[in-house]
Amino acid sequence: MGKLRAAITAVGGYVPEYRLTNKELEGLVDTNDEWIRSRTGIEERRILKDPTKASAFMGIEAAKIILDKKGLDPLDIDMVICATATPDMLFPATACLISDAIGAKNAFGYDVMAACSGFLYATVTASKFIESGSHKKILVVGSDKMSSIVDYSDRATCIIFGDGAGAVLLEPNEEGNGVQDSILKSDGSGAEFLFQRAGGSLNPASHATVDARQHVVYQEGKTVFKQAVSSMADVSSKILERNDMSGEDVQWLAAHQANKRIIDATADRMGLPAEKVMMNIQKYGNTTNGTIPLLLWEYQDQLKKGDNLILAAFGGGFTWGAAYVKWAY
Ligand code: UT7
Repeated sequence: MGKLRAAITAVGGYVPEYRLTNKELEGLVDTNDEWIRSRTGIEERRILKDPTKASAFMGIEAAKIILDKKGLDPLDIDMVICATATPDMLFPATACLISDAIGAKNAFGYDVMAACSGFLYATVTASKFIESGSHKKILVVGSDKMSSIVDYSDRATCIIFGDGAGAVLLEPNEEGNGVQDSILKSDGSGAEFLFQRAGGSLNPASHATVDARQHVVYQEGKTVFKQAVSSMADVSSKILERNDMSGEDVQWLAAHQANKRIIDATADRMGLPAEKVMMNIQKYGNTTNGTIPLLLWEYQDQLKKGDNLILAAFGGGFTWGAAYVKWAY
């Protein structure tokens, strides 16, 4: 019997219909289409306009695609992890709302909060439950309604973020496919460069925090950019090195979509040509926890069983990491 690995066996995704274009942003803040395209690679992002719907809704939609595609009985799912920076509520966990809505009554679930690295953290965490043999069908969801915490008068952040969700099903694999290796890192000294000031226990919601617009994303872009480039490239090249691989052995890079220049720099360090780099930032912007599963969802028809994928992320915290995954179908 081969080593038990956690393989991705199905992917789902959801993006809302409304397209927020660079042109429309030109009417909100002092920016322009040319600047946004050349500095970030983003052309438009999706926005969930319905105020009654949030991250759980998008995660549910992504999960339903997996249930349909696999003909899966939701009662067979034994764990649901939701990575989100924009939970529907601080508690209960968005994972509980998703489990309830899809009928995963036998699953336990919780949220992972690691900003833009959350989906990667959650996938690696879930893979350990599979590898231990304790769990057999784990749904990992990455979902964010970033428009609920973006200040549309702040040009440093509103041009970047969009709404969306993706999900993967992890199952045991004894053929050698699935998660092979991972490196996860965090450094809380980066907290002050990318964070939401109020709404937690330190600065609970009050008239003053609302008046001071403290319930939105604050980002010192330049500092985050520099850290993202070096950290994501570092872990991605390290994971190749310690698995005796070079860029030639990798079929695909699925990197967090925060800025096309960061993704290009990571691919360069790994020696990967553009055709091996999954990209959808132009359509969706930075959907935080949605980016990586949305990439897998959109590229899955091009993936072959046994393909070597590197998943990589960087986000607030700072948090970052990379995982080496062999595609299983
Ligand atoms: O997903 C989590 C992790 N997040 C990230 O990885 C994001 C990392 N950061 C970034 O992607 C980039 O820093 C931004 C896209 C946020 C900003 O790009 P930048 O190339 O770092 O711009 P900058 O802040 O250095 O500003 C360059 C110039 C400045 O003008 P001057 O001083 O050179 O005249 C800014 O005032 O661009 C100006 N600028 C803008 N112009 C038009 C800044 N934002 C804008 C804007 N539209 N939205």
